[in-house]
Amino acid sequence: MMLHAGKPQLIAIEVASIISDLACAASVEVGIRDKSGQRILFSHRSGAGHVDARRQNLEIGVTDEGSVFVSVETYPDASSHATLNAVSVLLESLQQLEKSRVEQEERLTLWPEEEESFDDGDGVVLGRMRELMVYAKRVAKTNIGVLITGESGTGKEILARALHKYSTRADRPFMPFNCTAVPRDMLESQLFGHRRGAFTSADRDNPGLIRAAKGGTLFLDEIGELGLDLQPKLLRFLESGEISPLGDTGPVNVDVRIIAATNSNLEDLVRAERFREDLFYRLNVIRLTIPPLRDRRDEIPALIHHFVSRSARDLGKGQLRVAEETMERFLLYQWPGNIRQLQNEISRVAALAEVDGVLTPDMLTQDIRNAGPRLSQRRDSHEIGVPLHDKLAPTLAHVEREMIRAALKNSHGRLEIAAKALGISRKGLYLKRQRLGL
Ligand SMILES: Nc1ncnc2c1ncn2[C@@H]1O[C@H](COP(=O)(O)OP(=O)(O)OP(=O)(O)O)[C@@H](O)[C@H]1O
Ligand SMILES: [Mg+2]
Repeated sequence: MMLHAGKPQLIAIEVASIISDLACAASVEVGIRDKSGQRILFSHRSGAGHVDARRQNLEIGVTDEGSVFVSVETYPDASSHATLNAVSVLLESLQQLEKSRVEQEERLTLWPEEEESFDDGDGVVLGRMRELMVYAKRVAKTNIGVLITGESGTGKEILARALHKYSTRADRPFMPFNCTAVPRDMLESQLFGHRRGAFTSADRDNPGLIRAAKGGTLFLDEIGELGLDLQPKLLRFLESGEISPLGDTGPVNVDVRIIAATNSNLEDLVRAERFREDLFYRLNVIRLTIPPLRDRRDEIPALIHHFVSRSARDLGKGQLRVAEETMERFLLYQWPGNIRQLQNEISRVAALAEVDGVLTPDMLTQDIRNAGPRLSQRRDSHEIGVPLHDKLAPTLAHVEREMIRAALKNSHGRLEIAAKALGISRKGLYLKRQRLGL
């Protein structure tokens, strides 16, 4: 019967033959019923003994052709009744199993199983970030150009560090460098190095960042700010591995992987002739784009827990808790400064909190405190309204939160009952509460 799951006709024939074998019925039939009437597919009559006047129907399932049933003419004795009863209990269990299999499949499409995480204590790697990390792991072993794009504070450097960590260069240096960090006229000597006396203020040799990162990875952030004068020099290095430090007699060969990042649109800069097209193509063999935090809100609760426990530990604040209304504001806010802004906000409110205290909405920066609710909830109602034209992940996360909250309230916090009411396992509920910060 298990093997035939989802094929009612085959199950019905199996059930009919079990009933015949058990000799508890005078006759058994398998039929299909539709609007125009019923059709018998299979029938077996043993013909022996006195027959109970009652016919009993077992409903097996529905196919395209109609509903499949097994009709049984039972013997009147108690043991035959008990046997038939046992068969129908078996059948019911089978139907239950099949139903939960379908439900689980549906759930998995909506909520992929909680996966192994890339967490190493330094960062939260979930959702889109996780996909990017999986991809980064795959391309890390090669030396192909990787360009990381994303708004400020989205985690470009975290991703670049991961590319380094998963590469064969992991035990060599990772050097992050922001191209806007030094004045333009100093940039060349910072990157490519110089000899003592190469220019007026060069009072000693400087190997430069490229040589300092020897064997490792140089992460060039805000690459769009690199002046047109330096771009050919970087291109030459990417193509030949050679640099010409200022004041040196000949070129020097260095093995360094370059990973570039930008929060501006490099294609626009190429069109405006502020960025060389050949360098762009060289850097942009693989593009990793990190979406802004407002488009990956499902990661917010885990990020909050990560930053709250880190701040609590650093500031000696014991166990800090985030009030649900605070979590709500965090989920609703637009986060123009992305994860960096979230991290700073949490450090700030954690500093204000009492030891073992609660982070309440009144502690939040005004803009965040005022983040408006996008879901309507009628008072004393068992329903919530959902905006139809919004991002799917945060809206679904919100719906999940509300449903879990309601189930926990109804069950007075008894997890087994809440999980059952929600149709998920206890472990599933535990994982969801963790993910949603409930
Ligand atoms: N997934 C994450 N988990 C934990 N912390 C994160 C995560 N992503 C980013 N951060 C933190 O947010 C801050 C900003 O990240 P990062 O410096 O990587 O962003 P960025 O995109 O390079 O920003 P910018 O464009 O301003 O240089 C850092 O302090 C980083 O530790
Ligand atoms: Mg950065």
